[in-house]
Amino acid sequence: MPRVLVTGASQGLGTEVARRLAEAGYEVVVHGRDAARSEVARARVPGAVASVTGRLDSLASTRLLGDDARGRGPYDVIVHNAALGPDQDRAILTEDGLERILQVNVVAPYLLSTMLSLPQRIVFVGSDAAFSGSPAVDLAPPDPWDGHAAYAGSKLLLTMLAFELAHRHTDRQINVVHPGWVRTRMGGPRAALPLSDGADTPVWLATSDEAIARRGGQYVHRRRAEAAPAAAHDPALRARLIARLAEVTGEHLR
Ligand SMILES: NC(=O)c1ccc[n+]([C@@H]2O[C@H](COP(=O)([O-])OP(=O)(O)OC[C@H]3O[C@@H](n4cnc5c(N)ncnc54)[C@H](OP(=O)(O)O)[C@@H]3O)[C@@H](O)[C@H]2O)c1
Repeated sequence: MPRVLVTGASQGLGTEVARRLAEAGYEVVVHGRDAARSEVARARVPGAVASVTGRLDSLASTRLLGDDARGRGPYDVIVHNAALGPDQDRAILTEDGLERILQVNVVAPYLLSTMLSLPQRIVFVGSDAAFSGSPAVDLAPPDPWDGHAAYAGSKLLLTMLAFELAHRHTDRQINVVHPGWVRTRMGGPRAALPLSDGADTPVWLATSDEAIARRGGQYVHRRRAEAAPAAAHDPALRARLIARLAEVTGEHLR
């Protein structure tokens, strides 16, 4: 059966996506930030075949995760789901000198993408917040600080990264999904959708043979390709982002 890696599988959408993929017979490798969270992911995704561990707010820890994940690959599908939400009342610099939301949501998926062999499908879990984000390709945090702007900007940069990868590898299905406003820790209890609805399109993109799921370079919501943020279609801007990501990680994207 196809093998899939799901980041951030210890709660929320990641757990639900991983659980469904395991139920569908996929060999699911779940990710948690540390050993305890990886155990939680294993317990919540009973069909998972393995877990991998590493923090996404540290380049060193993300590298260890990449090594760990490589040892349990290769993968047919990778779901980059883990992320930090906007609820941060100040900019927090990581040990790498990067703003934490940007590091977890953009730098970490970039680094993992450089370390793992390219799967047939990649599902980047983005957000419609990207439409209000500013394409700060230098990875500078909003000044003055605004957690929502940082989150929106990170999801815009993630969308740009996904579109660049899709542009380079047109034979792969590399897409961004907006799951909707979902009741998770990040979405909060008043969110419109239950987990099952939020996980539907990510799982469909990971597994389906329908036309849209067999294409790449799309921003997908409710199983439909929708217009992506303009910056995702700007090759020059994407090139500046990729150059900056290469600079901060020391790794080049294929
Ligand atoms: N919920 C929504 O309404 C909504 C809307 C649009 C987009 N999204 C996107 O959907 C995805 C899943 O969100 P969610 O709502 O399920 O969020 P969530 O419940 O907060 O779960 C986030 C996951 O990411 C992991 N994570 C966060 N920081 C990490 C770090 N530094 N190192 C390793 N793992 C880390 C968390 O691990 P721990 O369990 O250890 O904290 C958790 O597994 C995200 O990409 C989010 O941006 C969500």
